[in-house]
Amino acid sequence: MKKIKPAKVVVLRWGHRSRDARLTTHIALTARALGASGMILTDIADIKLKRTLAQVIENWGGVFFFKMGIPWRTALKAWREKGGVVAHLTAYGENIQTSKVIQRIRATGKNVLVIVGSQKVPGDFFSKKISHFNVAVGNQPHSECSSLAIFLDRFFEGKELDRKFERANLQIIPRTHGKKLVKKDKRRKDIHTNLSLAFPVPMPKIYILA
Ligand SMILES: C[S@@+](CC[C@H](N)C(=O)[O-])C[C@H]1O[C@@H](n2cnc3c(N)ncnc32)[C@H](O)[C@@H]1O
Repeated sequence: MKKIKPAKVVVLRWGHRSRDARLTTHIALTARALGASGMILTDIADIKLKRTLAQVIENWGGVFFFKMGIPWRTALKAWREKGGVVAHLTAYGENIQTSKVIQRIRATGKNVLVIVGSQKVPGDFFSKKISHFNVAVGNQPHSECSSLAIFLDRFFEGKELDRKFERANLQIIPRTHGKKLVKKDKRRKDIHTNLSLAFPVPMPKIYILA
């Protein structure tokens, strides 16, 4: 019997601004911790963010790729041409609680690119030519981070919270009280830098933050 591979989820972050760089960092940390395979920061490069993520992966393990500076149209075109589906997170979309949108996305069996936006996203994001699904985490505007977290949790049905992060140097041992952290003394030599597995676009020209 053919083994069915679980679908991968990759996050596309549109609208990173240098004045709230921490928000993009939080999106990347949320994506990694809650089961996404990687993140694409479109249209801009942020070397500091790349270094932060490399450090997090070095310490906390797992496989997570990060690409930056790819124009959003190029990234989305390449994803769709590879047969992936696109889910755009927006307060205007189908409500994740009252519709069957998550089940429909899962039923495609395809890898999912989740667009998280910023202030005013390009109108095209709402259209069929870009997004197969427009998903609302409730129909009130809130934040890209909270909507991504809830989307991933619903998509993976909570299983992502019990995931093992391979080759971690640091591991938290959960306790009722106090803090327990185990440190391993092996060095990882394969930090994420080469992990372009899930995404076919070659490294583009770099767009440096103004
Ligand atoms: C500051 S909000 C802008 C709110 C925007 N008017 C919208 O379409 O959701 C920035 C990003 O957070 C995400 N977001 C905010 N509220 C959301 C919600 N209720 N459901 C899904 N995504 C949401 C979207 O990706 C949005 O582009």
